[in-house]
Amino acid sequence: MFWLGLGVFVIVFALVLYATFSARRRPTDTPPPMRGEWLIILGGVVVPLPILGIVLGYSLYSSNVTSGPRTPLGAASSARITVDLIGHQFWWEVRYLEQGVVTANEIHIPVGEPVLFRVTSADVIHSFWVPQLHGKIDLVPGNTNTIWIQADETGVFRGLCAEFCGNQHTFMHLLILAQPRREFDTWLEQQQQPAAEPVGELARHGQQVFMGAACVYCHTVRGLNEEAATTTVGPDLTHVASRMTLGAGVIENNRGNLGGWISDPQGIKPGNRMPPTRLNSYDFRALLAYLEGLR
Ligand code: CUA
Repeated sequence: MFWLGLGVFVIVFALVLYATFSARRRPTDTPPPMRGEWLIILGGVVVPLPILGIVLGYSLYSSNVTSGPRTPLGAASSARITVDLIGHQFWWEVRYLEQGVVTANEIHIPVGEPVLFRVTSADVIHSFWVPQLHGKIDLVPGNTNTIWIQADETGVFRGLCAEFCGNQHTFMHLLILAQPRREFDTWLEQQQQPAAEPVGELARHGQQVFMGAACVYCHTVRGLNEEAATTTVGPDLTHVASRMTLGAGVIENNRGNLGGWISDPQGIKPGNRMPPTRLNSYDFRALLAYLEGLR
């Protein structure tokens, strides 16, 4: 395209120079006679048509190759990890389909490797954006968009929803944790395990509370209620205690915040889809002990 463009530029500029200097020799008050119609037809129609045709065809071809998921730009190897990302009001469902891992709001990826993201939405349009790693890509219900992401350094990268999606749009955060391959594999292996069995009487009672209260209708704990709840209304909690944050990046994941979140999620993140859970203090402590054990 450049060489074609340069050729056209040189020819046009030569004609402009020719016209400029040849016009000087004529008196200005007499218009020049009309000459060279053939040049107008040739330069204005006959030559541009094939040139623009070739350029159009080539740009259609090259934009097709550079946007398809099979040719990562600047990627050293093809991706071995595919992440399915599903937007919800107001959190992120994260699935590693091949590895059978489901998590939420925190995406682990191996550093220095291209990772394929397939993104869609369960409700309204969201937009996935981790400014340090990639440009925005929309999560559209009923449609799957794809994007390649590669982190060249290890670290925790903060991302957010970049499309207004409701009253907690502002607090629809996520983290990408780029790890060395070995650490990433360890994490995957740990996430593949079904939920840990509760240890101790309090935690065992907490599991009963979890099954008896409303939790179970929206949250899956693999190995416990997956046949009852193929639901994705709320985040999968199988390994909730291994995450850094709660409420899609809104609060740090610790016992106090977890308790606050369960008893008054609307106070922390007004308008989110989780109702408050009223429990007596023993049941409440038991539930916390159980959830804290889901590492
Ligand atoms: Cu989701 Cu804004």
